[in-house]
Amino acid sequence: MFDEFGFPGDVHLLEAAPILATFVYCSRAAEGVDDAAVDHIIEWSQRRNTSRDITGVLVFGSGVFFQWIEGPPVQVEKLIASLHGDSRHHDVVALDRSVEKRDRLYPDWQMERVGAEDIRTVLQDALESSEDKSSIAALQRILQHLDSGSLATIGRV
Ligand SMILES: Cc1cc2nc3c(=O)[nH]c(=O)nc-3n(C[C@H](O)[C@H](O)[C@H](O)COP(=O)(O)O)c2cc1C
Repeated sequence: MFDEFGFPGDVHLLEAAPILATFVYCSRAAEGVDDAAVDHIIEWSQRRNTSRDITGVLVFGSGVFFQWIEGPPVQVEKLIASLHGDSRHHDVVALDRSVEKRDRLYPDWQMERVGAEDIRTVLQDALESSEDKSSIAALQRILQHLDSGSLATIGRV
């Protein structure tokens, strides 16, 4: 608990961390949701998330969305409700949902297109921080998709 200088380990850091809600999910895009529609979702999300103090990552490829959302619990709950009612995607599978005192994994991401290696990093990070067996299996499946070359597009929100 105390380090070599007599200071308590990470206790002071933990006290400084905010209470953050996290929601991680995969879903399938509805018929007709093309690149332009995804661009529209990303643009909207970027603006709305900034005003709600929500950050995260949105990945889209081969008709599959993967999104990591983190922010104040009340705001994240509102977004989860909206996501479940959004007809532009279906089969929403929650991979992780938690509320804890911690720093953000994605503190200041802006929306932009990034390459396949960045997608891999995002998924790998999620995989490493996930403890639930079915979430791990789902993330590994997405990573396999990526390795087979079928996941191509990412936006950061
Ligand atoms: C895959 C996907 C991801 C989305 N991500 C976000 C997001 O990060 N933030 C956001 O405000 N809306 C996001 N949306 C849009 C919401 O589902 C919803 O349409 C929008 O927030 C308006 O909700 P409201 O009418 O309840 O205010 C996303 C939609 C889809 C299909």
